[in-house]
Amino acid sequence: MQRIRISDARHHAGESVEVAGWLYNLRRSGKICFPLVRDGSGIMQCVAVKASLDETLFESLRSLTQESSLVIRGKLRAEERAPGGVEMDVESAEILQRVPETDPYPITPKDHGIDFLMDHRHLWLRSKRQHAILRVRHEVIKAIRDFFDSNGFLNVDTPIFTPAACEGTTTLFEVDYFEDEKVYLTQSGQLYNEANVMAHGKVYCFGPTFRAEKSKTRRHLTEFWMVEPEMAYATLEDVKQVAEQMVVFIVGRVLENRREELKVLERDVSKLESIRAPFHRMSYDDAVKILQSRGSEIQWGGDFGGTDETILTQEMDRPVMVDRFPATFKAFYFQPDEARHDVVLGVDVLAPEGYGEIIGGGQRIHDLDLLLRRIDEHHLPREAFNWYIDLRKFGSVPHAGFGMGVERFTAWMCGLEHIREAIAFPRMLYRTRP
Ligand code: 4AD
Ligand code: MG
Repeated sequence: MQRIRISDARHHAGESVEVAGWLYNLRRSGKICFPLVRDGSGIMQCVAVKASLDETLFESLRSLTQESSLVIRGKLRAEERAPGGVEMDVESAEILQRVPETDPYPITPKDHGIDFLMDHRHLWLRSKRQHAILRVRHEVIKAIRDFFDSNGFLNVDTPIFTPAACEGTTTLFEVDYFEDEKVYLTQSGQLYNEANVMAHGKVYCFGPTFRAEKSKTRRHLTEFWMVEPEMAYATLEDVKQVAEQMVVFIVGRVLENRREELKVLERDVSKLESIRAPFHRMSYDDAVKILQSRGSEIQWGGDFGGTDETILTQEMDRPVMVDRFPATFKAFYFQPDEARHDVVLGVDVLAPEGYGEIIGGGQRIHDLDLLLRRIDEHHLPREAFNWYIDLRKFGSVPHAGFGMGVERFTAWMCGLEHIREAIAFPRMLYRTRP
């Protein structure tokens, strides 16, 4: 008998097939029971009738416990009201492992607290909402790769163990390497991207990054996935254009391929449908004025807080690009604005509906002397940056790029309250398990 995946079931109406999965739920009466079986690709309703089945088999199905594993066989019948459009009339089944009544599956349809669910994340992943979220995440990742691959970027990945800080020394995780050597978990692949881009012209890296963020917010993970494109002979304006095109492309893919999942998540898709170019653009100066007029405490020179980002984007239908930040709170590598030396050519893209910063990037310093000065001003050890400094000695050119966090983007697509659901096993200030 042919084994199928539930997502393909509607193409097999009228055939006898086999499905390998887990018991999601069960309704029953004396003579008939309806196992809901999930196989990872979908959920299928099965109908088991006592009169037409072996008695022990019927009884074992009728009393089957949630999340027991089974292979179930039967004939598929088109049924428009059923999830997936077909139902299975059960002919036979094999139960691989029956979850004992004495130690039942801990996650039931009743409401559980978030700590309980997070402690059982390894099982919570099977729930409908979590299942849908990780499928949207997959779509986001695939769209990112397709976007860069089809726009002339080469994927060159960067190291995780690094000798120096990219995004400031306060959020570094230190690791004991061999022979008393200390290294850090990477905060960003950018510095290595800058070497790779001088070899390939347009590159991106895509991997896990780490921040020892002491912030316990709904937007911060200590381990998150970031895609970082970098372009040679490019400026801040190029970054804004590519970032805008990329965001529009990914949103389009999610809408095209993940309608079902967005429905499970009860996402208001009209909010995603209005994401089009051009995005709103404003300078940091203007952003500060707007924020002050809306009651924020922010002063010129201060970084946005989470609430500031929310205020800026709340009434917006599209993302907002804020550029030209004060040099004082930005990383050492930002190119200053020629016209105004107190601001740098950086840009943040803020997602609407209060989701806040999803992208940060800008133009890098290409002048050797200026870079050396900045490294010293930031009290960074020159010897750890020798190779990076070399890039300004051998064919230096203006170059620019950005980073986008996959979980922030996924949380926005799915309309999540908290970023922790946008990754299978989140790592946060107080959470390193399971
Ligand atoms: O703005 P960030 O810190 O920029 C950089 O790391 C640059 N070196 C990137 C580059 O230009 N190549 O981080 C970029 C993005 C943020 O906009 C956000 O989406 C995500 O990474 N991000 C986080 N996501 C989850 N948890 C955290 N703690 C994050 N910190 C940054
Ligand atoms: Mg940033």
